[in-house]
Amino acid sequence: MTRVLSGVQPTGMLHLGNYLGAIRQFVGLQNEAECYFCVVNLHALTIPKDPKEVLERTKDVAALYLAVGLDPEKVTLFAQSQVKAHAEASWLLQCVARVGELDRMIQFKEKGKGSESALVGLYTYPVLMAADILLYQADKVPVGEDQKQHLELTRDLAQRFNRDYAEVFTIPEPLIGKVGARIMGLDQPKKKMSKSAESAMNYIAMLDDPKTIEKKLKRAVTDSDNQVRFDVENKPGISNLLSIYSLLSGKSIPELEKQYEGVGYGAFKKDLIEVTVDHLAPIQERYREIRHTDYVDKVLAEGKEKAQVVAEDTLRKMKDAMGIL
Ligand code: TYM
Repeated sequence: MTRVLSGVQPTGMLHLGNYLGAIRQFVGLQNEAECYFCVVNLHALTIPKDPKEVLERTKDVAALYLAVGLDPEKVTLFAQSQVKAHAEASWLLQCVARVGELDRMIQFKEKGKGSESALVGLYTYPVLMAADILLYQADKVPVGEDQKQHLELTRDLAQRFNRDYAEVFTIPEPLIGKVGARIMGLDQPKKKMSKSAESAMNYIAMLDDPKTIEKKLKRAVTDSDNQVRFDVENKPGISNLLSIYSLLSGKSIPELEKQYEGVGYGAFKKDLIEVTVDHLAPIQERYREIRHTDYVDKVLAEGKEKAQVVAEDTLRKMKDAMGIL
């Protein structure tokens, strides 16, 4: 059976980009593959944060995993920090990775901005991500487009390890959707939607209430041409809204273009608001039901036990191959 692993950082509130680019794919995969989904809380430490916030957000993401429909009977849900093999394998892989490779990582360049005070963990972050994936011998890794370069590094490290030490790792492949892999900011449709955006107008958070969703979508940047047409180059704002509408409603983009021909942006946005609110309502309801119960802790504790068995097995093979007691 195909193995799948993916992870989401517990930083800020999850948004439609995380959902449409990655998490929604997880839900479909749970019926056809052996899936491991983690909350990558060790990654959250790479930008300094309030410890209380890290803890709360970890549980928020776990609760959202459950609220969108991941079923702990079918998939293994766990927190990265609870499976110690991740940190250990990360060190071993740091002794396989090269400085030149990490220097080329776009996310480090963007987030670290060349600052001397950027944390070392931010620099080695992609190696920890490689450990997350390789420990589970994952065949497929569902992610948004922004993680593509990290997946390429993961594949390079696995191939190098297999060549220089022993055939330990499966070489993983990214699973990047055709639509939704790069949802853009509502206020800046040429940049990706991001939790760390300066303005909350950039994103729709998974827990935004209907009034907030309405306000944000009404204000979403479009253009003055008033024609609902998919053209990323010339109409990035409306194209992004069309992608969101299509993914949330299941209607294809050409179908939507036809539906809104000659109608203008007002009516299009009004319907998109309704589609978004209706899609998120049951997720939010389920989230509220479970977030502050011990169900979430219980799921993570059970997930940890299952994940640990797989991760420890690979870690032992890595150590044997490297001559580490
Ligand atoms: P993170 O937490 O930033 O994002 C979680 C997932 O959401 C996707 N994503 C987007 N997709 C489409 N449009 C967007 N605007 C958008 N923004 C985010 C991301 O591509 C990701 O799939 N390094 C990873 C976390 C990680 C990981 C892993 C992922 C750690 N270990 C192992 C997969 C496997 C990250 O920071 O994702």
